[in-house]
Amino acid sequence: MKVILIGFMGSGKTTVSNLLSDQLNLPVTDLDQAIIDHSQMSIPQIFKRSGEIGFRQIEHQVLLETLQSKDGILATGGGTPLRADNRLKLQEDPAPVILLHASPEETARRIQGSHDRPIANQLDVIGLGKLLAKRQSKYEECADITIDTDGRSPQSIADEIKDIM
Ligand code: S3P
Repeated sequence: MKVILIGFMGSGKTTVSNLLSDQLNLPVTDLDQAIIDHSQMSIPQIFKRSGEIGFRQIEHQVLLETLQSKDGILATGGGTPLRADNRLKLQEDPAPVILLHASPEETARRIQGSHDRPIANQLDVIGLGKLLAKRQSKYEECADITIDTDGRSPQSIADEIKDIM
């Protein structure tokens, strides 16, 4: 059994995937963590050293390795679907691809105070909304199902995903 979660920063991918992993007794892969393990650097360090292009290249490689697993929960990074080749790989994978959506206001609430997302560091709620709008069609292009997470508990979202799997 396998499921792939995609969505913008703060959409709940990591939280929901950990709940699913615990409750279904399936391994979880958090792509951001896999990138950190692979490069032995934090995400801000990778951005500082290699820029966004370098980060996306590592993300692409680690995604390809991660998609080899036939079982488990995969939480992608918020920018994973930006590359067309990543979108294609996600579409081709037999696992359901679930898009978690949150409004810019909810996103801003959820990620406030976190400093490990170089892309979001300088963005206020308007900037987050603009970036989300720019990415939305790419997320939708590879999603099988979209779940609106505003005002919902991570557990209720995990329950909805369990029904789909
Ligand atoms: C990014 C999202 C982050 C992380 C990196 C870039 C993005 O993942 O991969 O900071 O471009 O949206 P989360 O969505 O897990 O925060």
